[in-house]
Amino acid sequence: MSATDYKNPHLLLETADLEPGEITWHSPSNLAIVKYWGKHGIQMPKNPSLSLTLSSSFTETLLEYRPRETSETGISLEFFFHEEPNEPFRAKLLKYLESVTDIFPFLRQLDLTIYSGNSFPHSAGIASSASAMSALGLCLCSLEHELFGTLDDDATFDRKASYVSRLGSGSACRSIFPTAALWGETGEVKGSSDLYAVPMGEEVHTVFKHFHDDILIASTAAKSVSSRAGHGLMEGHPFAEPRYADAKRNLNRLILAMRSGDLEEFGRIAENEALTLHGLMMSSNPSFMLLKPNTLEMIERLRQYREETKHPVYFSLDAGPNLHVLYPEDIISDVRGFIEEELKPLCEDETYLQDWAGDGPVQD
Ligand code: PMV
Repeated sequence: MSATDYKNPHLLLETADLEPGEITWHSPSNLAIVKYWGKHGIQMPKNPSLSLTLSSSFTETLLEYRPRETSETGISLEFFFHEEPNEPFRAKLLKYLESVTDIFPFLRQLDLTIYSGNSFPHSAGIASSASAMSALGLCLCSLEHELFGTLDDDATFDRKASYVSRLGSGSACRSIFPTAALWGETGEVKGSSDLYAVPMGEEVHTVFKHFHDDILIASTAAKSVSSRAGHGLMEGHPFAEPRYADAKRNLNRLILAMRSGDLEEFGRIAENEALTLHGLMMSSNPSFMLLKPNTLEMIERLRQYREETKHPVYFSLDAGPNLHVLYPEDIISDVRGFIEEELKPLCEDETYLQDWAGDGPVQD
């Protein structure tokens, strides 16, 4: 079977004589430094992206399975989010699971119950699709391995987990790997692909191993554009083609900076990518403005602090108003002092989350 086609009609159980079981993964979110914004086909990126894998923002997913009691053909799924049944999430997951039955045909032979929860508050305005869909992708691959013994080799397992996570949410494919991950084909990295992410943790300078990403909550109000709609805004966008070319250039420069530990170059690219993402949203039709006045105030204060102290502290943004403050471990006490004093008062309910580049998903 080629790595580009995981369809496998042979993954069917021959007996209904199966012991019920359960699988748990906890999988982190990730922060793209070069952003994925614009897609085509089935969750294929218009440009390659590179992210830091986070630690303290994660989803824990428990998948219970048992032999199917009825002979209906659809997927049988119960879903609980933070211990409560959640119908909108269940409907979404059901659609996703139906879409991967060519890859995991045995799913139709089971009764499934999924319990899922995030380490970060649901209302924190943190996108959870990367952690949630990677946790589920990992559970599905572990289930396949448990039932059929097919994914013994770690690299094979991770690649398939990344592939199926991507089908749930593009950015989720990058959460599978420790420290940093690249998704999208580029001549700069051998083996890179639009279909799954590849690990970059071994390739980057040690300064990025415990790199900090404190997430300053500017607003928890629901974002006004879903990421599906956001990617759609790039279709027909007047700056789409120059953007994809720019992202590729930024990616090549970022890889060099991350290999050599050039923090200034890393920070320049991170900030440029973040503001470009928001610039694209502002200049799309319809237009979206997700930044809040306090986001801008925080950016100004951070830049001023950097100017005064010469500390390598930079920012990034996701498709929302919250500011990701990025800095290396050796300046943590200074930067935390600055955040506590100058940025925390600008946050909604003075909330910020401390996160950092970490070791990737863990099976419990
Ligand atoms: O994976 P999606 O479809 O939720 O898109 C993620 C888009 C950004 O978070 C804005 C950028 C990225 O590369 O993660």
